[in-house]
Amino acid sequence: MICKKVLVTGGAGFIGSHLVDALLARGCEVIVYDNLSSGKKEFLSHCLDDIDFLKRDLVSDKEIASALDGVDQVYHVAANPDVRVGVDDTWVSVEQNIIATYNLLEAIRKVRPSDPPAISFTSTSTIYGNASVMPTPEDYGPLIPISQYGASKLAAEALIAAFSDNFGIRSSVFRFANVVGSRSTHGILIDLMRKLKKDPTRLEILGDGSQRKSYIHVSDCVDGVIHATEAQKTQFEYYNVGTDGFIEIRNIPDIVVRAMGLKDVRLEFTGGHKGAGWKGDVKYMSLDIRKLLSTGWTYHHDSRRSLEMAASEIFKEL
Ligand SMILES: NC(=O)c1ccc[n+]([C@@H]2O[C@H](COP(=O)([O-])OP(=O)(O)OC[C@H]3O[C@@H](n4cnc5c(N)ncnc54)[C@H](O)[C@@H]3O)[C@@H](O)[C@H]2O)c1
Repeated sequence: MICKKVLVTGGAGFIGSHLVDALLARGCEVIVYDNLSSGKKEFLSHCLDDIDFLKRDLVSDKEIASALDGVDQVYHVAANPDVRVGVDDTWVSVEQNIIATYNLLEAIRKVRPSDPPAISFTSTSTIYGNASVMPTPEDYGPLIPISQYGASKLAAEALIAAFSDNFGIRSSVFRFANVVGSRSTHGILIDLMRKLKKDPTRLEILGDGSQRKSYIHVSDCVDGVIHATEAQKTQFEYYNVGTDGFIEIRNIPDIVVRAMGLKDVRLEFTGGHKGAGWKGDVKYMSLDIRKLLSTGWTYHHDSRRSLEMAASEIFKEL
């Protein structure tokens, strides 16, 4: 199906705003639904005349359905994506990721019961937890997340699966690797760059540096999400979204230091939590992406190149 009218929750955020750009470029009519908790209207300043922007909150809004009038496809991107916050605040991901998703699903099922809008959901590789199979395929199990964030995203996936079956809602779930690119407001690149801006002589890196993770540039990521959403023939699908292979975290400081034109920076690894960055951080992550590749999508940049491109994009915005 080629979408005509789409609603993007979280469309003012890092990934959501790139998704909005890509959907507009495809000629879609776009409504952005965002409470601006971490998103910024300035991420959409270049296209505000071309979209409907709704500053609304999926948790408190009693009238979500009114935003779905005539909508064929919902991209549910809104979330609290901060993995680290879960150890100190166990409620935030329940509220922002589970309850917000439930409220949206309720609105979707009620708005046009005989022909509800489809939903594409931005999930995460953290639902796999410390997987024993690498690269990890979509049908890996048991799924044992190790963060509140991963647990809440897995719960949201489960709700979508049940709503899809019970109410005939066409649904796609996308489990992202680490996504990098311009308009980032969190993640390793911006963390390291902010630290270096404060003190360009030394750089603290969370963990022992031996963590291995897969990265994808946001342009490849949103392209994969739209491509698979439009190509999907079945009622319900899961896809990993990432690149082949991984990069060792100890190699990322060099990418950042180069992008910032610095030298002689002293690297200090914290050791973290059992070598991972923090409690709840998955130390090794690499995704089996053959299912998404089989739809005809491909990525253009591997983990290293994605990080290099993103580092120079983010540096310009610092
Ligand atoms: N960035 C990554 O590497 C990554 C990796 C895996 C999955 N994801 C997922 O991708 C999605 C986008 O992440 P991001 O990195 O762009 O984060 P982000 O914080 O930039 O975007 C989230 C957006 O949702 C909005 N939002 C949050 N709660 C809301 C609510 N209750 N009502 C309305 N709007 C709300 C925020 O204002 C923000 O614009 C999230 O679902 C996240 O879990 C991101």
